[in-house]
Amino acid sequence: MDKLFVFGKTVSGDAFTDREKETEKLVANFKYGINTFIVSPRRWGKTSLVKKAKVLAEGPKLKIVYVDVQHCHSREEFCERFASAVLTQTAGKMDEWVENARSFLSRFSIGLNASPDPTGELSLRLNMLPKERSMEELLQLPERIAQKKGVRVVVCIDEFQQIGNYPDSLRFQAELRSVWQHHQQASYCLFGSRKHLMESLFDDTSKPFYKFGDIIYLQRIPLEYWVKYITSKFKQEGKSITRKQSEWIVNQVDGNSSYVQQLAWYVFLRTAKKVGETILREAFDELVDQCADVFEAKTEGLTAYQMNYLRAVADGVNDGLSSSQTISNYNLGSSANVAIIMKSLLEKDLIQKIDKKIFLTDPIMGHWIKRT
Ligand SMILES: Nc1ncnc2c1ncn2[C@@H]1O[C@H](COP(=O)(O)OP(=O)(O)OP(=O)(O)O)[C@@H](O)[C@H]1O
Ligand SMILES: [Mg+2]
Repeated sequence: MDKLFVFGKTVSGDAFTDREKETEKLVANFKYGINTFIVSPRRWGKTSLVKKAKVLAEGPKLKIVYVDVQHCHSREEFCERFASAVLTQTAGKMDEWVENARSFLSRFSIGLNASPDPTGELSLRLNMLPKERSMEELLQLPERIAQKKGVRVVVCIDEFQQIGNYPDSLRFQAELRSVWQHHQQASYCLFGSRKHLMESLFDDTSKPFYKFGDIIYLQRIPLEYWVKYITSKFKQEGKSITRKQSEWIVNQVDGNSSYVQQLAWYVFLRTAKKVGETILREAFDELVDQCADVFEAKTEGLTAYQMNYLRAVADGVNDGLSSSQTISNYNLGSSANVAIIMKSLLEKDLIQKIDKKIFLTDPIMGHWIKRT
């Protein structure tokens, strides 16, 4: 039986709702070779969107490569993973990618990793320490292969914000841009989950990726779509949920796609025929319980001041955190201290700034903080 509500993995088919305009735009960008950044808060649906657009856009003349660089901690690891994905995903058969590797990567000897990588795909090991020039060879692969095959290639790089943490990151960013900007038949879709880190890669003229391409700021899936999605899934299984109750689910988790699906699932599980108040409340408690371990781990080691700051934001103090009133209400030290706290919590991705206001990055965390 298909899952009714899906969370914790990318969604497709019946579990994917809305995103029509974004899908259309991304498919067009893929087809016409426009570089694209996609930015959104965590778990709103970037990866699912890219995978959907990939399926729709791909064809004999357009190869789309997907690579996740979450676990790459240096430029060497990044380049190796990038090259491995490009070689294997642009070729139909193993012979073809081995041949491409031989002809385009003169400075490497290629090994095949016996065990597939975590995405389940075969990966290459590039033996020989890449030197400066060799690294460029790896980055040139999409264009070289596209030219040879007479196709377009789009490389989609997930968790791209990781490169901001590499040693000498700015230099690496400049290297990437200087190679990729000359590509005619290859283009790039760069996306990632830590909004402020992603934005910091291209948000001012001094950054190598400034004006590198189109930027899609993913919005929340509109309430209308969620209501339709939730009510129809309940109906399909012979249960009923009102429009108002569905809206409550969405609003309770601030429209975070993943939490909407998760909370809807907990409500569904408790419902024999009709949803009621108690069911909603208990389902929400379960959601907060489920998240508690993660929140504890994320806040472990925070100073008392930092926790106090989070508590203020959880209470709805979204601006004026350095006012003397707030400082005294929440014991935040001094206004200079408040600025330091804010910076460190932003770096830890626990808070985010939207239109100069401060919000908790995770919409459930506020409920957990109030409970503890
Ligand atoms: N279009 C959609 N329709 C319905 N649910 C969705 C949609 N997109 C995302 N979701 C829900 O959100 C969850 C996270 O989706 P996805 O992994 O695509 O988001 P993400 O933004 O890439 O997350 P992360 O920030 O962790 O990389 C999915 O498991 C699903 O529950
Ligand atoms: Mg993702």
